[in-house]
Amino acid sequence: MERATASPYPAPAGAGFFYPSTAVGGRRHLLGLERVSREAIVDLLDAARLYRERLAAGRWRSDALAQVAVCNAFFEDSTRTRCSFELAEQRLGAMHVSFGPAGTSVSKGETLLDTLRVLQSMRVEIIVVRHRSAGVPAFLAGQLDASIVNAGDGEHEHPTQGLLDLMTLGDAWQERFDGRRLAIVGDIAHSRVARSAIAGLTTLGAEVTVCGPATLLPADVEALGCEVAPTVEDALSGADGVMALRLQKERMESGLLPSLGEYAATWGLTPERIRLMKPEAVVMHPGPMNRGVEIAPEVADGARSRVFDQTANGLPVRCAVLAWCATGDAKAAA
Ligand code: CP
Repeated sequence: MERATASPYPAPAGAGFFYPSTAVGGRRHLLGLERVSREAIVDLLDAARLYRERLAAGRWRSDALAQVAVCNAFFEDSTRTRCSFELAEQRLGAMHVSFGPAGTSVSKGETLLDTLRVLQSMRVEIIVVRHRSAGVPAFLAGQLDASIVNAGDGEHEHPTQGLLDLMTLGDAWQERFDGRRLAIVGDIAHSRVARSAIAGLTTLGAEVTVCGPATLLPADVEALGCEVAPTVEDALSGADGVMALRLQKERMESGLLPSLGEYAATWGLTPERIRLMKPEAVVMHPGPMNRGVEIAPEVADGARSRVFDQTANGLPVRCAVLAWCATGDAKAAA
C-alpha cells in the first residue's frame, strides 16, 4: 500500500490536509473543513439529513458497514464526539473499539504512532482520532493504511463539529447561507470549533463576525475569512445567529483573562444581548457549556437555543462521514 503523499492543499502551519476521494491508496480522510469543496460539504450534509430521517423513524440500523472495523482513539476527554461516533458506528453495523485518554499502553511509553499501528495490524480501516496536538490526524494520514477522521486536534480543526453546526444552521436558515451572518464569541485563538465553523460557513457563502478579549483573538484572525467586532453588542447586532465558545479556565491561570466574572459581564450571552440579533436568529454552543460564564442559563435553555439540536445532529453527521470514508458514498448506508 502506498503512503498518502503531501496534499497540494496544506492548511496553515502544516496543521492538516484534506485528501480528496482519489487519495493515494484509495483511503479517504476528513482532516478539516478548510479547502473542502462546497460540493463535498453539501453532499455530506445531504447524506446527514437522510440519516436523520432514518433515525427519526425509530430503531433504525443498517448493516452497510458490517465488514468495516473502526477505532475511536481519544487521547483527550470527550462526551459528545466520542459517544456519537460510537453510536453512529453501531447504527451502521460496523465493528468498533474505543479507548480514552487513560488505560492504553501509551502510559507505558508506547508512541502514538505505534499505538495506532497496533490497531492497523488488527485490520482497523477507519481511525477516529482526537488529540491535543494540532496536526496529529494529518500526520497519521501520511503514515497509516487507514482512513483518518479528525475528531478535534488541538487548536486546529474539529470538522465533524463544523458539519453538525452547518446542519443546525441550515435548518434555522432554510438551507440559505448566502447573506447570513453568524457571530462567534469568545476564545477564538484556541478554538478548533471556530476554525471549522469559519471554514465551512464561508465556503457555503455565509459571513462570520468574531469577537472576544484581545488576548483570545489570533493576530491574523481576518485571514481566516471573518470580520472582527470590538464588542459583543457590535457582533450580535443584526446577526442571524451566535455561537458562544467554551471559556477554557486555564486561560485565566495563564494570565490571558482577569476573572470569570469580568468575562461573563463583558462577553457573556445574556437575554438582553441576544435581543440585538434578528428576531429569528438562533443561539448555539458546541459544548460543554459553562453556564453563567459564556452563556446565561436562560439563554442556553431559551427558545432560540439550538444547543441540543447541535448534539442531535452530531449522530447523523458522523454516520455520513463514516459511510463516506468506508465506501466513498456518504449515503451508502441510508
Ligand atoms: N463539542 C465537543 O467536541 O464536545 P466533546 O468534547 O464532549 O466531544
